[in-house]
Amino acid sequence: MNVQLNNPIFEKLGMTYPIIQGGMAWAGTGHLAGSVSEAGGLGIIGIGYWHADQVRTEIRRAREVTDRPFGVNVMLMSRHIREVFDVIIEEGIKVVATGAGDPSPFLEELHEHGIIVMPVVPSVALAKMMEKKGVDAVVAEGAESGGHIGSLSTMALVPQVVDAVNIPVIAAGGIGDGRGTAAAVMLGASGVQMGTRFLASEESEIHENFKNAVVKARDIDTVVTGELLGNRARVLKTKMSKQYIKNERLEVTKPKPDADAMEKLENGTLKNAVIDGDKNTGAFMAGEIAGLIKEVEPVSQILEQTWSQASELLTQSWGTH
Ligand SMILES: Cc1cc2nc3c(=O)[nH]c(=O)nc-3n(C[C@H](O)[C@H](O)[C@H](O)COP(=O)(O)O)c2cc1C
Repeated sequence: MNVQLNNPIFEKLGMTYPIIQGGMAWAGTGHLAGSVSEAGGLGIIGIGYWHADQVRTEIRRAREVTDRPFGVNVMLMSRHIREVFDVIIEEGIKVVATGAGDPSPFLEELHEHGIIVMPVVPSVALAKMMEKKGVDAVVAEGAESGGHIGSLSTMALVPQVVDAVNIPVIAAGGIGDGRGTAAAVMLGASGVQMGTRFLASEESEIHENFKNAVVKARDIDTVVTGELLGNRARVLKTKMSKQYIKNERLEVTKPKPDADAMEKLENGTLKNAVIDGDKNTGAFMAGEIAGLIKEVEPVSQILEQTWSQASELLTQSWGTH
């Protein structure tokens, strides 16, 4: 018997499982997001710095596989942001997730169109600020996550955010199965978001080299780039990421670090991993939980197994009444 969580947002969206596939620039395609929503979770298209036409194309690709609601994760710093929001509204998208940046200038307009807004937050202060501005939920993301990260771990961050705000809190970072999901619920989360787990799904369209690297990764196979020069990101250890960290050490010892050179090195590198599978130039963004993932599975199986395992564990600890 599956446990039901009290999350009005998920109820409104008609989700079967309280599980979100986190937006992932390049990797979170319309096909993947649509497949997750079709299977009963919430898929989110990751659009990074794409222009509005590319966003529309991916939204339509998601619609080819589902009639259910799905979300779009926007990059607020993108120079296409206005046109991107126009497309999101025109296409009738129901959920907008945001990474770095403040979504509040767009909040009223998005709410007028019935769009749920869910920023990702790495700290209590940001969660409180977002609640005050009127967002509908927050995703508390720990530094175990793949991609750009804050500094707190999920285990410490989630309960503190839960205590600090009165809106639903979704836990993200280091969750890969029903055990992690049940643990997040125990910490007070009313849903989870996974990214790395969905990279290794049949419906994920990332290059085979990237998928294989996630499946083969051990617990110690991720590193954080940007520790010294900023813009921290968790990626798999590759020739590229090791070189990046070496260059960072060299740059930081200079009187004035050449941030431009580092930006150049990072720019476009996620695309090189996702599309070309190139380990010399690609940033294979993935989280610490990659070590737990041993197989590429259909998203329907990932969702079903994760939630039935979590439900079993939660029922054992809560009792059946
Ligand atoms: C390849 C990759 C790309 C990502 N890109 C984004 C992004 O563009 N915007 C964002 O808010 N989060 C991004 N994330 C974070 C995910 O949405 C999600 O919160 C995270 O992966 C959860 O942690 P996990 O990897 O341990 O499951 C990315 C993660 C990965 C693995």
